[in-house]
Amino acid sequence: MARVKFDRVIKRYGDNLVIKGLDLEIQDKEFLVLVGPSGCGKSTALRMIAGLEEISEGSLYIGERVVNDVHPKHRDIAMVFQNYALYPHMSVRENMGFALKLKKTPKAEIDRLVDDAAKRLELTHLLDRKPKALSGGQRQRVALGRAIVRNPQVFLMDEPLSNLDAKLRVSMRAEIKKLHQQLQTTFVYVTHDQTEALTMGDRIAIFNAGFMQQVGTPFEVYNRPVNTFVATFIGSPQMNLEAAKLAFEGDRAVVKSGYFTFNLPRTELMKEGDVLVGFRPEHLVPGNAGDANLLKAPVEVIEPMGSEAYVYLKGDKGNVIARVGEEFIPKLGQELSLTIDPAKVHVFDAAGDGKRLN
Ligand SMILES: Nc1ncnc2c1ncn2[C@@H]1O[C@H](COP(=O)(O)OP(=O)(O)OP(=O)(O)O)[C@@H](O)[C@H]1O
Ligand SMILES: [Mg+2]
Repeated sequence: MARVKFDRVIKRYGDNLVIKGLDLEIQDKEFLVLVGPSGCGKSTALRMIAGLEEISEGSLYIGERVVNDVHPKHRDIAMVFQNYALYPHMSVRENMGFALKLKKTPKAEIDRLVDDAAKRLELTHLLDRKPKALSGGQRQRVALGRAIVRNPQVFLMDEPLSNLDAKLRVSMRAEIKKLHQQLQTTFVYVTHDQTEALTMGDRIAIFNAGFMQQVGTPFEVYNRPVNTFVATFIGSPQMNLEAAKLAFEGDRAVVKSGYFTFNLPRTELMKEGDVLVGFRPEHLVPGNAGDANLLKAPVEVIEPMGSEAYVYLKGDKGNVIARVGEEFIPKLGQELSLTIDPAKVHVFDAAGDGKRLN
């Protein structure tokens, strides 16, 4: 069992509170991604699992055991860092086998494990090279290989792809997912890149300023973000947010923004007054003159994306981003009429943390 559980974990550096009470249970064999902006506490959370940072308050479990005071060596984890941290004077084979050698594993066994991992990662022909004679992607695979040979209960990865070019990053993303499926172990993966989080995680935990904002499957956090932070952090280009007023009419809530009026089911969280309505660029669709909700605005910028384009509209009531298909790409300055299905609309509190109301 390689469950990892944070139970009211707090981390302070002196007076600086960087993890502000974390409750999170990572399931056995799960691929969990920690994502959030720079400085939000992702690496700190990961390093606490590894035992590289002390825990100020609360308990951290690996399996059934509280590991707050267990030495990193005895936690049965392996960590892959952003800068790979390979030993420059050792060959790929020596780098990959080094941890096993320290553990006094017999040489024949080390060779077998290193050969296995090298085959899995397509490194066999590079085993005698030194790291400086490898490409970035190859070095990254050696760093993964070094973790694999230890057969840990939990793999920890801190931005392992951020030094790779865009194309290699995409292929390594798939490689790491494949590895997870083959190894059937728990992976905890840190990134600041929301695309990486969405494409790789079984679940995603979104952090901001030391707080975990939401944890859920990629579909849950994308389709039902709990607050405006998650709504705008997950998804690119980001969700449109517009100021609006909410008023009750019987069991319905009428939400009026500059462009739209939505008649939505009333929920217990809603109150009359100021709210924000959110809608994603892909949910705006070409409208007709008769539509109740019609946004008309001229196109200011067009961003072609191959089979589709993002268009930036400059309306008199605020700017809006919409996604349009290639059959429908407008000209600069052209006026677009767009509408939206009310079922795709998000309503958030205009005050406080901007929590979701619908
Ligand atoms: N050793 C330390 N002493 C004091 N403060 C620290 C220390 N390490 C990290 N911090 C602070 O803790 C906060 C969280 O840092 P952390 O490295 O976990 O962020 P992160 O989410 O991984 O960011 P990034 O995406 O930039 O890597 C930051 O404000 C950072 O300045
Ligand atoms: Mg970090």
